Amino acid sequence: MNPPPVATREIAREERFNVVWTQELNDVFADVAPYYDRANYIASLGLWGWFLRKFMETVDIRPGERVLDVCAGTNAIGIALLKREPTLEVHAIDRSAKMQEVGRRNAEALGFRIHSVIDDVHTLPYPDNSFDVATLQFASRHLRIRQVASEIRRVLKPGGRFYHCDMLRPGNPTVEKLYYAYLRFCLWFTGFLFRSGPAALNCKEYFIQALQMFYSAQELSDMLEDVGYRDVTAKTVFAGMLGFHRAVKPQ
Ligand SMILES: C[S@@+](CC[C@H](N)C(=O)[O-])C[C@H]1O[C@@H](n2cnc3c(N)ncnc32)[C@H](O)[C@@H]1O
Repeated sequence: MNPPPVATREIAREERFNVVWTQELNDVFADVAPYYDRANYIASLGLWGWFLRKFMETVDIRPGERVLDVCAGTNAIGIALLKREPTLEVHAIDRSAKMQEVGRRNAEALGFRIHSVIDDVHTLPYPDNSFDVATLQFASRHLRIRQVASEIRRVLKPGGRFYHCDMLRPGNPTVEKLYYAYLRFCLWFTGFLFRSGPAALNCKEYFIQALQMFYSAQELSDMLEDVGYRDVTAKTVFAGMLGFHRAVKPQ
């Protein structure tokens, strides 16, 4: 499937997925929360920790900084950052109370405190210029990402850094085909293994379509510049299937 032109991509994504985003996805994440981390480990063939380390290598942090992890899920990012720099003040926002409940337990087990807000991230409930760093991992495909990137820019301090990681649409059609076939298999296999409920099972095809309609690394960089970030850089691995972006809010 060829995605619509970038100029109309956000409108097309919203028209196509709005019902899933607003009415179904929260039930999916409530369903998968107890096995989310294990399912990702299996689906990534054990590379989940490596993905996280690769992303963390792109993130520079300084003692005492205020960090916002957007769509924090089970707090993998907040915990990785606190392990590196325990003086950080880490905030997490996610719409799923169940994912954040697992995240709170994961953080507390290591003696970390992460300030959690349960809310939709399209309007961030924080004042302007309040964070040094913001992160967003593996959630943009489920969001009106242009609006969220803009909100993140608003809550970052001037000079603040935004770090983004997600599965992206690879440029090569053969890679794309193999990639989607593998993802379909993974969704089926983890659904079977963890006995997923109807919400997660019904959304299996959505996860592929959301990726087919998403951005390539270059398109995402262009969008970040367009919403007002500067010094945007991107790194990809696995033929563009996974991308790491860094973007700075101008001083
Ligand atoms: C695939 S998980 C990623 C979690 C985490 N960032 C990670 O890397 O493991 C996607 C997360 O995005 C959250 N999410 C999706 N749409 C959201 C929205 N509109 N507002 C807030 N959270 C949302 C889900 O609840 C879920 O926890």
